[in-house]
Amino acid sequence: MRVQREDGECNLRRVAETTEPVTMDKIVSLCRRRGFVFPSSEIYGGLGSTYDYGHYGVLAKNNIRSLWFQAMVQERDDMVALDSAIILNPRIWEASGHVSGFTDPLVDCRTCKLRFRADNLEQAQCGRKPSKHPGEFSECDLTEARQFNLMFQTHVGALEGEGSLAYLRPETAQGIFVNFKNVLQIARRKPPFGIAQVGKSFRNEITPGNFLFRLREFEQMEMEFFVPPAEADEWYRYWVDARYSWYTNLGLRESHLRKREHDADERSHYSSATTDLEYLYPIGWSELEGIANRGDYDLTQHTQHSGTKLEYVGQDGERYTPHVIEPAVSIDRILLALLVDAYDEEIVAERDRTVLRLHPRVSPIKAAILPLIGKNDEMVARAKALQGELRRRHMVEYDDGGAIGRRYRRQDEIGTPFAFTIDEQTLEDDTVTVRDRDSLAQERLPLAGVPDWLDDALERPWKTPKDD
Ligand code: GAP
Repeated sequence: MRVQREDGECNLRRVAETTEPVTMDKIVSLCRRRGFVFPSSEIYGGLGSTYDYGHYGVLAKNNIRSLWFQAMVQERDDMVALDSAIILNPRIWEASGHVSGFTDPLVDCRTCKLRFRADNLEQAQCGRKPSKHPGEFSECDLTEARQFNLMFQTHVGALEGEGSLAYLRPETAQGIFVNFKNVLQIARRKPPFGIAQVGKSFRNEITPGNFLFRLREFEQMEMEFFVPPAEADEWYRYWVDARYSWYTNLGLRESHLRKREHDADERSHYSSATTDLEYLYPIGWSELEGIANRGDYDLTQHTQHSGTKLEYVGQDGERYTPHVIEPAVSIDRILLALLVDAYDEEIVAERDRTVLRLHPRVSPIKAAILPLIGKNDEMVARAKALQGELRRRHMVEYDDGGAIGRRYRRQDEIGTPFAFTIDEQTLEDDTVTVRDRDSLAQERLPLAGVPDWLDDALERPWKTPKDD
């Protein structure tokens, strides 16, 4: 049964939809306004390309992390988890090639004192004349390009010196390779099997920017899948397809997601094949996740540098260095893609509505519980009892402040898929209305059935109503 709500929105169809593209400014502004993401260290003037996640940002990130973990570890027999240290023995970064090769070419401008990536000048703005690129304005005075290592340095122990130098990890992957033997022996695994890890990585990016896309501190989710060499290509293709489907199952529009295989000259030094899953961010098609065939590069390097043989030896004497397939992504880039994909503006009941059409399993809050009249003690008591029951299973939010239409709008902006409203009829017949964020449809449900109804609704497959 469809019912008429206070603001009458259920009788009103979508009368207009904005066609203009979603800009990064709109996403930044919504994240700020609704407390998803704040610029870091703001009261001290900020710190370039670091961000703090607020309440809803933390909840959304938790959901992304646990959906990834569920798909990569929980639902598989061939995967184990790992949480390695952030600061590792610095020899690891010599073996991996990061000390010598994890660099970007850098130029300084002696005039404006800004620093640019030498291979990216056409994307940068001159510090004195932003309409020009560095080097184009008559006053530009650029230095020769020099290689700049992206790893953050630190010191371990009380004395600073050559012997105490260490690095904040620039990727989580190396912590996995150096634990290969532990997992092989103690977890008694045999290729093909994978080790999955989630954690912070750090890169002193020269040209950061574009909000969550390129950060100096970000949370990576990486998995290294160890396979017999002859199966490497097959598993590489498998993981490219599996990771693509993970995103479409999360509701990302296929028109905004593509696979792009690297040409030989683009690949990292360790890779024999790489495919990027690219998303159409407001800055254009850009890497969301990379899937690489790393061959035996890492296990061989660590064998040579550590003197510990990292190989598989079967019971029948079979012996080989496994090859590695690696899907690698950051939660930050996933969240940015999901927010861009979800952002929608429309006019409903002659009023603007901004809505995040997030997959319900990604939405920070699963349901809002709203007494229609915030000053009605009976409605408030029923609503609070429902909140008490639902919060044991899901993140839900109780709100009795202001007109019901404004409360719906607030929930729309943070992507809450369902709202349960307690009204006069609830007091008579123990039913509530449930409002759907995307269709705005409302139906009446028995109050006692709400917890199970919500469980079922969150399990249902979901497809975005936005045009693909
Ligand atoms: N272990 C391989 C590796 O780290 P990468 O292409 O440098 O490969 C993998 O990074 C993923 O990590 C990227 O696809 C992206 O999702 C994320 N990532 C890398 N640098 C990032 C940054 N500065 N800010 C946010 N995410 C980043």
